Amino acid sequence: MDRRDFLKLGGSAVAAGALATTRATAAAPQAAAPFLSAAPIEHVRIGYVGIGGQGSGHVENLLKIPGCRITAVCDVRPERTDWATKQITAAGHPAPTAYTKGPRDFERLCETADLDLVYNATPWEFHVPIMLAAMKHGKHTATEVPAAMTVDDCWAMVESAEKYRKHCVLMENCNYDRMEMMVYHMVRQGLFGEILHAEGGYLHDLRGIKFADEGEGLWRRAWATKLNGNLYPTHGLGPVANCLDNNRGDRFDYMVSMSGPSRGLQDWAAEHVPAGSPKRNERYVLGDVNVSLIKTARGKTIVVEHCTNLPRPYSRIHMVQGTKGLFQGYPSRVYIEGRGKEDQWQEAQAVLGEFEHPLWKEIAEMAKGAGHGGMDFIEDYRLIKCLREGTPTDFNVYDAAAISAVVGLSVQSVGRKAAPVDFPDFTRGRWQTAPPVPIIHM
Ligand SMILES: NC(=O)c1ccc[n+]([C@@H]2O[C@H](COP(=O)([O-])OP(=O)(O)OC[C@H]3O[C@@H](n4cnc5c(N)ncnc54)[C@H](O)[C@@H]3O)[C@@H](O)[C@H]2O)c1
Repeated sequence: MDRRDFLKLGGSAVAAGALATTRATAAAPQAAAPFLSAAPIEHVRIGYVGIGGQGSGHVENLLKIPGCRITAVCDVRPERTDWATKQITAAGHPAPTAYTKGPRDFERLCETADLDLVYNATPWEFHVPIMLAAMKHGKHTATEVPAAMTVDDCWAMVESAEKYRKHCVLMENCNYDRMEMMVYHMVRQGLFGEILHAEGGYLHDLRGIKFADEGEGLWRRAWATKLNGNLYPTHGLGPVANCLDNNRGDRFDYMVSMSGPSRGLQDWAAEHVPAGSPKRNERYVLGDVNVSLIKTARGKTIVVEHCTNLPRPYSRIHMVQGTKGLFQGYPSRVYIEGRGKEDQWQEAQAVLGEFEHPLWKEIAEMAKGAGHGGMDFIEDYRLIKCLREGTPTDFNVYDAAAISAVVGLSVQSVGRKAAPVDFPDFTRGRWQTAPPVPIIHM
């Protein structure tokens, strides 16, 4: 019985509203059925691996989220597990078990600790080994970005998640940023019409960070000596891929990629690194600007950029173009045909009151002060909530694989004169019937 039939039978408007809500709620789990949901977990026990710059923020967030406990911590630096232990006990929880016996001690954590979730914020080379060990030992897993640096490793994640029926989640915080969520909300309401094209990127001057003698300086620069492509596609690509229904009605089909010359790190080393330092002898292969172009199965296009070695203000580009208008980030503005003045941008702030995503309305206060303007808290909150309720996670292993595959595929394309390279269909056809990412609530 649809809403009209119900009214014909004499139901009041209020009752009809109640019916509509019930149907929407009842439909939600079914709509999400194609992707994994696991048994609900009342209190999520977490093992946290890698408590450096980004991991520390997640530890702090998780201590504020109801229904979870960090019961194990792991880092190659015992001072970081000591720091986490202090935070955890100060929050009134029992001290976690610490795993600090070197770079493979996460294996012992995965094997021996009684955990529901192993979540890591380690250097890129450890993401996949940690996630595979976690799933093999019966734990859900989540990772910082990018999930994997090769297409083979993307498949390894997918196959393992399917084999062990465990969540394997890429924690792409930018999916949850205020503007990104507002744009997604507007896309779902059809404000921009059919979405035809999008652009995203990670344009961030990281030269100082890459040459530091601590934190990412200890591992991130090394990747620039090994790979030439887009090493960090997920922040820019994740949110716009959602607007294009990636893996949920459409999917990335193939891409081409080009890198320009490599100058930024060499120039920085020459200016800032003392003569005689081994850093001066490094040779970088990573082009300073990498541009990739993705074609989707439904014929849509996405430009993805990477630029982390040159002086510039921060940007993720964030452009979503439809048949009725577009959003353009940095600075955030919209243009919707028939709204506002013809041929003139409207500041996004002007439409935020009308189109703010419900999740941000509900959670902004709680997220205040958390990393990256609050979005890091929101992604952690959503992950724990989905695990507790036994629903599919907002983003799943197929999303992790598709958006991380751009690393490996861009390297392949750049190495072959921008030849087109195919994305695997990690969903094995399920993208055709999967519903869009649901509008998510607290
Ligand atoms: N989403 C974001 O906005 C964002 C921001 C920054 C970093 N990141 C990602 O977070 C991850 C970590 O970056 P970071 O900036 O925190 O780096 P970091 O170097 O500050 O922290 C890494 C931590 O991992 C530890 N570690 C290294 N190898 C380990 C191993 N084998 N086992 C256990 N611990 C190990 C290090 O001691 C360190 O404490 C990276 O994947 C990075 O891309 C994401």
